[in-house]
Amino acid sequence: MNSDCERILLDEKMIQARVKEVAAQLDKLYEGRKPVVVCILKGSVVFFVDLIRNMKTPCELDFMAVSSYGAGTASTGELKVKKDLAADITGRDVLIVEDIIDSGNTLYHLKKMLNARAPASVNIVTLLDKPSRRQAPMEPEYTCFEIEDEFVIGYGLDYAEDYRNLPYVGILKRSVYEK
Ligand code: IMP
Ligand code: MG
Repeated sequence: MNSDCERILLDEKMIQARVKEVAAQLDKLYEGRKPVVVCILKGSVVFFVDLIRNMKTPCELDFMAVSSYGAGTASTGELKVKKDLAADITGRDVLIVEDIIDSGNTLYHLKKMLNARAPASVNIVTLLDKPSRRQAPMEPEYTCFEIEDEFVIGYGLDYAEDYRNLPYVGILKRSVYEK
């Protein structure tokens, strides 16, 4: 285990098993359709890759980079689009793949923005949800794991761009960010 990690919350096996289950649910939802699956960079990239590899539905892949976070651990509530979609999503089914929903501000604004482009549907699948931290009225359609109010790292998730390539989701030691 990484020495900055307090404890492992979700190990590789737990994650893989749950990702398979959710991929099967999404296959059912999108049966006969071809969604645009959107990876929200960078935190979602690991989850996104595992998810699409488990989905049998033909899909198009796209990438978006938005941010409401700086290097800290709390949301600013503002959404900056750093990279927009390549695809025209008018009339398309859109599946947003997110790493974690915390205040809900990022996805609340993002969903609003994408809905304004007249897609056929917009659904959200998130690896993690911290419902106790919610500020914006934002409920994802699919959640792999609900977690307590702890700052987590690994499996794509970072603290100041570190730890993204850890194969598990772990709780970051407070001493790392409370210096
Ligand atoms: P929200 O706008 O507050 O819902 O923030 C969502 C974004 O904050 C996520 O996409 C993450 O980038 C980041 N975030 C929130 N909580 C954590 C955490 O525990 N670890 C790492 N990143 C987090
Ligand atoms: Mg982040």
